[in-house]
Amino acid sequence: SPFLHPPESLRYYEEFAFRPDDKLIVTYPKSGTTWMQEMLPLIMSGGDPASVETLHNWDRVPWLEENRALILNLEKRPSPRMFTTHFHYSMMPPSFFEVKPKVIYVMRNPKDVFTSAFHYFGSTSFLVKPGPQSEFLQKFLDGQVIFGSWFDHVKGWLNAKDKESIMYISYEELLKDPKDSVTRIAQFMEKSLDTEVTEKIADRCLFKNMKKNSMSNYSAVPKEIMDQSKSEFLRKGIAGDWKNQLTEAEAEYFDAVYKDKMKDVKYKFVWD
Ligand code: A3P
Repeated sequence: SPFLHPPESLRYYEEFAFRPDDKLIVTYPKSGTTWMQEMLPLIMSGGDPASVETLHNWDRVPWLEENRALILNLEKRPSPRMFTTHFHYSMMPPSFFEVKPKVIYVMRNPKDVFTSAFHYFGSTSFLVKPGPQSEFLQKFLDGQVIFGSWFDHVKGWLNAKDKESIMYISYEELLKDPKDSVTRIAQFMEKSLDTEVTEKIADRCLFKNMKKNSMSNYSAVPKEIMDQSKSEFLRKGIAGDWKNQLTEAEAEYFDAVYKDKMKDVKYKFVWD
């Protein structure tokens, strides 16, 4: 999107210098980015509510490829810094491959990603309108949408070198067992949390609670840019909403394309 990603922003990211203790959230859009932007700061701060109440999610764990990154003075931030990106593995800048900061890669059932995107794209002024569902479905499967193909994104990150610095987790796992997810992410980030703190973080990150956090629910974004009366950013927060969205024929077609594009992937997805 030219609105979010002017050439200066892309150049900035291309030249960005990572630190070894940076933490990076990587997602294909609509896979649980905002959710992880809540969970990670809470984990890194040992459960301090201020970590998600003082800054908006886009400033707290900023997208490195977006225009706001240019004005946030990220070079001056104390370590460990936290960032977000929607970039494909193959598009990561040179410093990323040299420094190998820790990555948490969140993925979600692509039929739910599609469903979430369909509603979200229709509510923003800076993204190409999804158009009729059947057309948007074809565009999504062809990767003719912002950040390209879901299949390429997921395959690229699953095939990354240096896998010991990447943690893979799914939206569905976060949903199914929030406490266990917090525990595992904390372990990966080498933060020790006691049970009480782990429970508090998991509770704070529940959909209904996050929805109340004005620093995370996008209520600060003007209606002309994001019209939440059309579709709320924190819309449903469930797994399997594609069943309410796709026709039977569309779902079958999606599965056929999925089977073909993912045939060489060994990873056992938790949404299966
Ligand atoms: P839905 O549109 O299916 O509700 P992203 O942040 O990557 O853009 O993803 C947005 C999706 O994550 C939306 O999905 C949103 O509701 C969901 N989401 C955000 N926070 C969540 C939470 N705490 N629990 C469950 N889902 C959440």
